[in-house]
Amino acid sequence: MPYDLDQFIADCRSLLSRDPGPVGRDQVRVQLERLLANPDFVRAYCGDDVPRGLKVLYEDPDLGFQILAHINDKARVSPPHDHGDSWAIYGQATHYTDMIEWERVDDGSDPGHARLQPTKTYRLMPGHAGIYQDGKIHSIDYPDHARFIRVTGSNLDKIKRVRFDLETGKVHQMTPQQAT
Ligand SMILES: [Fe+2]
Repeated sequence: MPYDLDQFIADCRSLLSRDPGPVGRDQVRVQLERLLANPDFVRAYCGDDVPRGLKVLYEDPDLGFQILAHINDKARVSPPHDHGDSWAIYGQATHYTDMIEWERVDDGSDPGHARLQPTKTYRLMPGHAGIYQDGKIHSIDYPDHARFIRVTGSNLDKIKRVRFDLETGKVHQMTPQQAT
């Protein structure tokens, strides 16, 4: 039997109950890659017939994590951003996403300004998932029709997050689901 969404949800629950920290989350990342290796799942949730937009596939009532399908039509480049106190896992379903991980190189004394430098650049291909632990800053760049599954530690619409303007160095508060 191919690994399906229900089994993935059950595994997320047991892995994150046992270890909600970085190790448990990375085990979720590995299981997400297993889910994305199931062509029936990819077709049903990320296929050509799936309506465009952002869909919450599951939210856990106890642990608070969410599983989201990002069904994109148009290419997009996001600014560098964090996921607040949460973490995020991005699993590529179709096409690809270019990822850049960033770190702050200023002393953090001015909450309104930051200087960033890239630390890691890579392309996430279908079937692969990347993890961004709490506080990590990343930016994403994907072509038309790229689709991905995201798992977040909590509902990001409910927590404070920031995005960074690379030209001016300004730090902006983010609005719900902006920049993903
Ligand atoms: Fe993100």
